[in-house]
Amino acid sequence: MSEVKKTIVVTRFDPDKDEVPKTQSYEIPVQDDWKVLEALNYIKDNVDPTLSHRWSCRMAVCGSCGMNVNGEPKLTCKDPISSYGDTIEVAPLANFPVVRDLVVELEGFMDKFKAVKPWIIAAKERAAEEGTHRQSPDELADFKSFSMCINCMLCYSACPVVSNEPDFLGPAALALGHRYNQDSRDEGADERNEIFRDEGGIFSCSYANECTEVCPKGVNPSGAIQQAKLNNVVDWAKSFVVPRRKSS
Ligand code: FES
Repeated sequence: MSEVKKTIVVTRFDPDKDEVPKTQSYEIPVQDDWKVLEALNYIKDNVDPTLSHRWSCRMAVCGSCGMNVNGEPKLTCKDPISSYGDTIEVAPLANFPVVRDLVVELEGFMDKFKAVKPWIIAAKERAAEEGTHRQSPDELADFKSFSMCINCMLCYSACPVVSNEPDFLGPAALALGHRYNQDSRDEGADERNEIFRDEGGIFSCSYANECTEVCPKGVNPSGAIQQAKLNNVVDWAKSFVVPRRKSS
């Protein structure tokens, strides 16, 4: 395995001490099969234990290692170091408050997820004797890709609407809500669509499509939001013919 030297320029920020973020450069030996996360782990383990960054699974599953690499939101455990030149800049994800160095605050983001009611809503509980709720492959295909999100927040970092409109529910949360609306077992679309149509909902999306471009799992949040817009417009048009059910 060949080894070369690269300079990793990392954004450092301690809100207890620093007024503004600064950068710190580390020249380290890297192996050409490393991901960017491995370079950060090398720095933490061998050069500077004060560096703070977040990761867990190292296999693109937990969604915790999202950072801006050379200005682009990336899942660093999946991002090959060989795709960059001799200098790599690593910064925290944009559009989030920074806790420290490369670690961002998740709280507001998680609230947006809860707001779209990401669970199966049923009008009445299914009795045990009714058996399992069967779903055909076609019904599964209606929402499966939208259920692949790992909450890595790359889409929020890339989204121009999130940066201008902090109350925008955002790509991942809206795609997740749409995923449940598309699920044949769910009866909560009327409730979610009211939230979708509110300020900061689907109609705030300008279809920049950046969310879909950066998604490391191929979720296509932008497509989900456009489908949700269409469903809501059709729903609105139908309401003139058939009165809408009141949500409880
Ligand atoms: S460390 Fe889990 S997704 Fe990267």
